[in-house]
Amino acid sequence: MTSAHTDAMPVTVRVPAKVNLELLVGPLREDGYHSLSTVFQAVSLHDDVTVAEADEFGCTVTGPLAMGVPATKDNLAVRAAMLLAERAGIETAVHLTIRKDIPVAGGMAGGSADAAAALVGCDRLWGLGLAKDELESAAAEIGSDVPFLISGGTAVGSGRGERLAPALARGKFHWVFGLGSQGLSTPAVYAECDRLRGDGPVAEPSPSPELMAALRSGDPRELAPHLRNDLQAAAISLRPGLADVLAAGVEYGALGGIVSGSGPTVAFLVEGKEAGLDLAIALTASGVVGDVRRASGPVHGAHVIPAPVD
Ligand code: C5P
Repeated sequence: MTSAHTDAMPVTVRVPAKVNLELLVGPLREDGYHSLSTVFQAVSLHDDVTVAEADEFGCTVTGPLAMGVPATKDNLAVRAAMLLAERAGIETAVHLTIRKDIPVAGGMAGGSADAAAALVGCDRLWGLGLAKDELESAAAEIGSDVPFLISGGTAVGSGRGERLAPALARGKFHWVFGLGSQGLSTPAVYAECDRLRGDGPVAEPSPSPELMAALRSGDPRELAPHLRNDLQAAAISLRPGLADVLAAGVEYGALGGIVSGSGPTVAFLVEGKEAGLDLAIALTASGVVGDVRRASGPVHGAHVIPAPVD
């Protein structure tokens, strides 16, 4: 057993949200997951997770979006910290303070992001010095999206989403996110996708060359027509109002719109910062969405930042 440092200073980690530019859902596997081919992009909406030594594992969730996030050992971030402690033979516990700015249950991987931040924070606090692939292997045990939130940038995910390869993307893309007022359950959306597909065979997916070429061009106009999410029909089936949100965004000037992950957040790609501001104003005024956020990507994955000043 390795004892943890007893006087280690708390560590704060900033972690981004993600959007799937392409989410191709393959067949249901024997382990209950679907094989995926997805292209992730990390975007500039962040949670900050502070990791401090404590007598027992636990967390506090703060910020306007904290409601509905479990502040117990069921929180994915706490489970991630406990898993790393077990793997590394660390005997002391940590308390996590999670400042949430990533929409909850919105398809932007907020819970997975906090877990990624907890792994990076604990690694630093405990002085483990784990390599990125070791952290990503622990991350994959916690959830399919967690490894990507450690790596950030733009990446192709395969397997159940946890196997990553970097994607070549030029420039910066600007996004506007329309948030729903009520979350959607990821397993329910996958189950609805299966139901809508019926019993026919489903092919193993692979990234579309058109999307990869559009990413290399750095041109949002080229990228927009190639955004695709196989979970979109299922999310709309469970939440029909999402079709109106998608239509409104395009009517108000988005280059393209897509349900983000398993929804209900809708991601709109725009020409640039100005266009994003115009769209955010129009969407807010229209009342079709609960809230609107602007962001750009790609950004870095989970990384240690100086302690926040409250
Ligand atoms: O991996 P994670 O715990 O985030 O996945 C949440 C749920 O989403 C899984 O329990 C499963 O129902 C569904 N899922 C899936 N196929 C994937 C990823 C997630 O069916 N590749």
